[in-house]
Amino acid sequence: MDALNILYLSAEILPYAATGGLAQVAAALPRAVRRLGDDVRVILPRYGLIDPDRLGFTRALERFPVPFENDVLWAGLWQAPDPDIPIYFIEHQRFFGSRQGIYSFPDDGERFVFYSRASLEAMRHLNWRPDVIHCNEWQTALIPNWLRTTYQDDPFFSQTAVVYTIHNLGYQGIFGHRVLQIAGIAQQGFIAHPDIAPTLNQVVSMMGRGIIFADIITTVSPSYAREIQTPKFGEGLDPLLRDRRERLFGVLNGIDANAWNPADDPALAAPFDSDDLSGKAACKAALQQEMGLSQEPETALVGLTSRLTEQKGFDILISVLEPALRLLPVQFAIMGSGDPRYHHQLADLQQRYPGRLAFHPSYDETLARRIYAGSDIFLMPSRFEPGGLDQLKAMRYGAVPVVHATGGLKDTVIDHHPPEVGTGFRFTPYDGMALYAALVRALEIHRHPDIWRAIQRNAMTRDVSVDAAARSYRQLYRRARSLKLTGRPDALINS
Ligand code: GLC
Repeated sequence: MDALNILYLSAEILPYAATGGLAQVAAALPRAVRRLGDDVRVILPRYGLIDPDRLGFTRALERFPVPFENDVLWAGLWQAPDPDIPIYFIEHQRFFGSRQGIYSFPDDGERFVFYSRASLEAMRHLNWRPDVIHCNEWQTALIPNWLRTTYQDDPFFSQTAVVYTIHNLGYQGIFGHRVLQIAGIAQQGFIAHPDIAPTLNQVVSMMGRGIIFADIITTVSPSYAREIQTPKFGEGLDPLLRDRRERLFGVLNGIDANAWNPADDPALAAPFDSDDLSGKAACKAALQQEMGLSQEPETALVGLTSRLTEQKGFDILISVLEPALRLLPVQFAIMGSGDPRYHHQLADLQQRYPGRLAFHPSYDETLARRIYAGSDIFLMPSRFEPGGLDQLKAMRYGAVPVVHATGGLKDTVIDHHPPEVGTGFRFTPYDGMALYAALVRALEIHRHPDIWRAIQRNAMTRDVSVDAAARSYRQLYRRARSLKLTGRPDALINS
């Protein structure tokens, strides 16, 4: 395979800026593709929380012009001292440098339009021509639009294809018309698909534009790729996705298998692996101790690390916790932050069931590792889950997942259903009763150590590494080039 130049854009990338799974994937996938031979480079904004001096950044470009709303703004470009992959940062004081957070500013539309446009222009000034640009989420969704319009006859970009990845259709980037003026594409108007939700055709859905203009669209699991073509999961954009289904692919997320390895993880009380699980008992005892749970080696310990939001299934989970604590032989170790309503409910349960339910109200990666290692069962009752990474880590650490059969959870957790040993337990439909029943089923099997071990081993030896995704993306990058489109999808845009 000839090597390609791939520019990978994500608004968050670990260890520099992170709010969720996107940052983990954006850290692992480009590196894995690069190891396979393509020249992958990544680029994100230099947010205020990223200190270039402390991190030893160097200036890659001092100052370059970026077209912005009939005018030109100036940007700079930093590079991190990473020996494995070039990581660039767009410097702009007003939009990024002077602020602490990543998102949720009133001018997010302007900010990410600027970041996207500056990323393109930076490559021109570096004289590094991308064969494919891999965009992620709404923050970078205007790039496919520009490449097929504004940059279509630009010799530097005229051969560049775009792969656009949806990590969560729930965050679309909805803005008013002004964002098109800023982007210099006001004359193209709104999306005007006859079947699109009426609420969406008088505003700019950045995600929607990414979908209609990209050469290839991907999402983070095959099941989610199917689900988003239905009204139930399509967030109003399912008609666009159905139109483009031949260019829509589900590529399962993976994790960095070296960074998540129970045989070699300094956060754990004892190492273990799929051949010798004895260290896991020590991890369980240590977790019970650390979180204030009673020392009960036999009781099934159920772990959960999550944002506390409805998407993650907290509405049904909360209804099930109290009956489970009253009636079942379980303990719960729950970690995460989010909706204050769920914080209160969990804190209340912790108080009323001391030693049985422990709640750590913020995200802490070290504790997360100990929860995967110390738990017998890992719960992920998400209402929908495009990909999901926590169930992969849990499986690798021998915590048997109990999940709602949706999206990436459905694709990675195989139900224990004799004679199928499986890698966990799935439930459907999405309701408290089905979740409770799956938990009861898992606890019943947990009483049989031999069967339980077999499930654990299956889960632990499943290939959950990002390398399979990297191989698929290399093929999709080549496909995007051969399927590269030119011109505007007229049927979809008002003129
Ligand atoms: C989003 C999705 C999650 C996925 C992650 C990385 O956070 O909600 O399911 O694993 O992106 O792709």
